[in-house]
Amino acid sequence: MKNIIIAVDGHSSCGKSTVAKAVARKLGIAYIDTGAMYRAVTLYAIRHGLAKEGYIDAEGIAGALSDMDITFSFDKEMGRNTTYLNGENVEDEIRGMAVSGLVSPVSAIPAVRAKLTDWQREMGRNQSVIMDGRDIGTTVFPDADLKIFMTARPEVRARRRYDELTAKGQEANLAEILRNVEERDRQDSTRAVSPLRKADDAIVLDNSDMTREEQFDFVIERVKEIKQAHPCK
Ligand code: DC
Repeated sequence: MKNIIIAVDGHSSCGKSTVAKAVARKLGIAYIDTGAMYRAVTLYAIRHGLAKEGYIDAEGIAGALSDMDITFSFDKEMGRNTTYLNGENVEDEIRGMAVSGLVSPVSAIPAVRAKLTDWQREMGRNQSVIMDGRDIGTTVFPDADLKIFMTARPEVRARRRYDELTAKGQEANLAEILRNVEERDRQDSTRAVSPLRKADDAIVLDNSDMTREEQFDFVIERVKEIKQAHPCK
């Protein structure tokens, strides 16, 4: 059976990872959260004084990429993926506001995108994967078997991120999160390298008014259609 590559792109905080994880579990394939990789690079940059509000040392960050080892593991106890930066569990820290506020400018650095794109292609070389991000269907895997472009109204997305943070006991301010969501949309869609945009052959999934089950069923239906059209996949 040939490996299958599913690209899930879209705006921030629209539930890409929730759907992608559920689909990965159902199909028994790997799930890769590429946003976590950009977030881990950003955390490294913050910790080494290479990024702070109003200051990004693009050359310094590019030069430090070879010192960063980013890996994932599945935490059975918590039932979730965990991101490691040089062996340290950074899963919670990379979701906080400090990283969220700086991840867009860091991810706009061409050398960062080139390096992470290489790692991501490598991860999809010998296995079936569902990968979520911003440029998976346009740049990382332009020949993906299935491309989903997810979106939702900004207010809905801000509320979801707020609920996620408060559920973990982290402090959160809804208005600040909404500003961050809108600002990231703007930065992600207007950057020079691999801006966020729907691939021409991607299927749009606006989940503003959909349940998780409905989104899951939507993607699984599309996978079934591919398998019917190409029985060897
Ligand atoms: O999916 P997320 O919100 O965790 O992603 C964090 C940031 O990383 C997002 O603002 C843009 C960037 N990103 C990117 O540029 N390309 C990707 N493939 C994934 C994320």
